[in-house]
Amino acid sequence: MAYVPFISSPPEVVRKMLEIAQVREGEVVYDLGSGDGRILITAVQEFKAKKAVGVEAREDLAKNSMEEIKKAGLEDRITVIRGDLYQTPIVDADVVTLFLTTSANERLRPKLEKELGNGVRVVSHDYEIVGWKPEKVETLGQHTIYFYVVKKP
Ligand SMILES: C[S@@+](CC[C@H](N)C(=O)[O-])C[C@H]1O[C@@H](n2cnc3c(N)ncnc32)[C@H](O)[C@@H]1O
Repeated sequence: MAYVPFISSPPEVVRKMLEIAQVREGEVVYDLGSGDGRILITAVQEFKAKKAVGVEAREDLAKNSMEEIKKAGLEDRITVIRGDLYQTPIVDADVVTLFLTTSANERLRPKLEKELGNGVRVVSHDYEIVGWKPEKVETLGQHTIYFYVVKKP
């Protein structure tokens, strides 16, 4: 499994990512490498996503984030899968969020291209998806957010 360390996106970056991705009521959001679950919780609580799914390799993070989700009473709408993001199906995503590395994004790109439908939005904190053309690149202090829309013929 490629090593990507756990560093949380600051709350203002989380909000900006979800805003740029235009998460709407009733949508399904995936955070691949979901850390402490903050993107999932914000997507459901503030952006009214119908469902948010996190995939997290680290057992401690997956467990702790599920505990936070239960405390917030959101376990019927948020799931954290303890597993490998490269192996987890994401076919029902409306929005995918990433904060990995450029090389992890490169490895992930074929999966995104295969599984995501036309119009699905992908936002990546700090690392671009090489080979894809962003619709928008926004900076917030030291942070950069890349916004992509999947286009299929
Ligand atoms: C930089 S953190 C981002 C956390 C969260 N998405 C955020 O923005 O606050 C990256 C996370 O991806 C997880 N991760 C790295 N490789 C993974 C893999 N192959 N499958 C699942 N999770 C992975 C790490 O354990 C870490 O929690």
